[in-house]
Amino acid sequence: MSASFELASSLEIKSSTGSYSVGIESGSFERSLKHFEGAAIIADEFFRPAFERAGAAAIFIEATEMNKSLDASPAIIERIRKAGANRQTELVAVGGGIIQDLSAFIASVYMRGLRWSYMPTTVLAMVDSCIGGKSSINVGPYKNLVGTIHPPERVLIDPALARTLPDDQKASGLIEAAKICFCRGEESFARHVAYGPSIGMSTAALEQVIGNSLAAKQWFIERDEFDKKERLLLNFGHTFGHAIEGATHFAVSHGIAVGLGILCANEFERQRGVSYAGVERVTLLEEHLDTMISEVPNLAGTMRAMSMDEVIERFGSDKKHGPGHYTLILTAENGDVVLRKIEKTAQVARDVERAIQTVVKRCS
Ligand SMILES: NC(=O)c1ccc[n+]([C@@H]2O[C@H](COP(=O)([O-])OP(=O)(O)OC[C@H]3O[C@@H](n4cnc5c(N)ncnc54)[C@H](O)[C@@H]3O)[C@@H](O)[C@H]2O)c1
Repeated sequence: MSASFELASSLEIKSSTGSYSVGIESGSFERSLKHFEGAAIIADEFFRPAFERAGAAAIFIEATEMNKSLDASPAIIERIRKAGANRQTELVAVGGGIIQDLSAFIASVYMRGLRWSYMPTTVLAMVDSCIGGKSSINVGPYKNLVGTIHPPERVLIDPALARTLPDDQKASGLIEAAKICFCRGEESFARHVAYGPSIGMSTAALEQVIGNSLAAKQWFIERDEFDKKERLLLNFGHTFGHAIEGATHFAVSHGIAVGLGILCANEFERQRGVSYAGVERVTLLEEHLDTMISEVPNLAGTMRAMSMDEVIERFGSDKKHGPGHYTLILTAENGDVVLRKIEKTAQVARDVERAIQTVVKRCS
């Protein structure tokens, strides 16, 4: 591994375990793979042909939620052991959030901790999950129930890899980028919009979207690596979104569910008398979300088939709520994103339900 390896643009992220660099350069995939020669690589099965073309070896894993689980981990750990990994080995993950979560988790526990690096391959992972150091894996029916915080050594991003992603996967990632920039504030979101985020955007424009989104996320994770204050705002859209994701049995993917969750959160505030009239960034965000969610095949049918009782039940059992209040990340009247604790009353429960129903109709 050559220590001096650099990509066209980079940023340096500070974390509790030291700082790590994130390099971004289109077309850098094979060069980055060569940089990691000698490492133990865990790669998404999708990339097997690309590895064969590059003459590189890896442990290939299908990117499924079932494989991102505590149950599936021992067999993968055994494969890494058989491949000869020891305490000095660097683990490298090549794939989207599933391969990232699995690899980061294994890296944090294998022989009490290995160094690991990451080459993200989905838009969601490039704009969001590749920094922050969190890993979450599934246990039985429970998604992301256990995890660790184990920051990577370095992250190398090739935005050109996104070209082969299905449109709804691109939309899912662009929604996460829009969310992060919107949470960061007016300037960050204005830059995001100016890059013209869309399914058909050029790789050069995507490169700018990635840089802007990571710079916005950097602000949150460097101030609050362990999710106590500022970073909590990045849960914008998550309470409604997780409820929708679960109630549709994951037919709606995470990023899309977050987009729907943001629309629900804004609708909830409107039910409670908040007006966003004249707040341009709220209008732009909602228009962007409408465009992105329209990329999802049969979303209207999926949303109509969702059990309203189940979505409400899941909304109510979010772990962020307290006994007498809901904890929600919402858009304030001026467009800023804020955390609010809202007393649990029958009226608020009706507002929650109405907000979700309005968004279900909006998808039709
Ligand atoms: N650790 C974190 O901070 C964090 C943050 C957000 C989400 N996540 C987790 O990430 C997971 C979702 O990850 P994701 O959306 O990045 O995708 P993914 O890893 O679930 O992959 C989605 C699909 O895209 C395929 N794929 C990956 N790269 C491709 C490419 N370049 N071209 C074509 N197909 C490709 C995969 O094989 C898979 O079929 C969830 O499990 C979620 O919980 C983790």
